[in-house]
Amino acid sequence: MKVHVANHPLVSHKLTVLRDEQTDSPTFRRLVEELVTLLAYEATREVRTYEVEITTPVTKTKGQKLADPRPVVVPILRAGLGMLEGMSKLLPTAEVGFLGMVRDEKTLEATTYANRLPEDLSGRHVFVLDPMLATGGTLIMAFHYLIDLGATDITAICILSAPEGIAAVEKEFKNSKVPITIVTGALDEKLNEHGYIVPGLGDAGDRLYGVV
Ligand code: URA
Repeated sequence: MKVHVANHPLVSHKLTVLRDEQTDSPTFRRLVEELVTLLAYEATREVRTYEVEITTPVTKTKGQKLADPRPVVVPILRAGLGMLEGMSKLLPTAEVGFLGMVRDEKTLEATTYANRLPEDLSGRHVFVLDPMLATGGTLIMAFHYLIDLGATDITAICILSAPEGIAAVEKEFKNSKVPITIVTGALDEKLNEHGYIVPGLGDAGDRLYGVV
């Protein structure tokens, strides 16, 4: 498994504003969108392309276009939905599947309440959007669904990650034949006793959409 931690002043700046408890929801949503676009630039580095010949106003030349089958983007509801717009700006032709998952606040176990994925993911590069990689339980479950459907490559984009979550995903998929990459804005210090990332940014879903 590959882990890429963004090391870029713009990401650090936006993360600092995002973490601040004074940041309101509209600003939080805009920053999440901007951060995803920056992280997606790194996450799509290995996306498949093919060569085409085109004619510019000046001459004929060769270029690259996104290959078929198109990538699939899978936001994990609810908080991952806040990342979809930023990702779609970079990959407007990608197909979108949805996974709705919620974690029990006491046991921290993830359960799935919605699953709308393409039936066959063979040959597809899947980009999973989940802002907070905390215990890793949600991503592990999501990756298993995608591998079972035949995904060829899986890349998760997470705004923040905890070392415990990265270690759990790494352990679970250490023998996986499907290449897995995690691209994250920052690797934080730890999880607290409630499963929150420290220093983190609180509950990403609540900060995006309010407390429900
Ligand atoms: N989910 C969140 O929204 N925040 C955390 O810190 C951990 C999981």
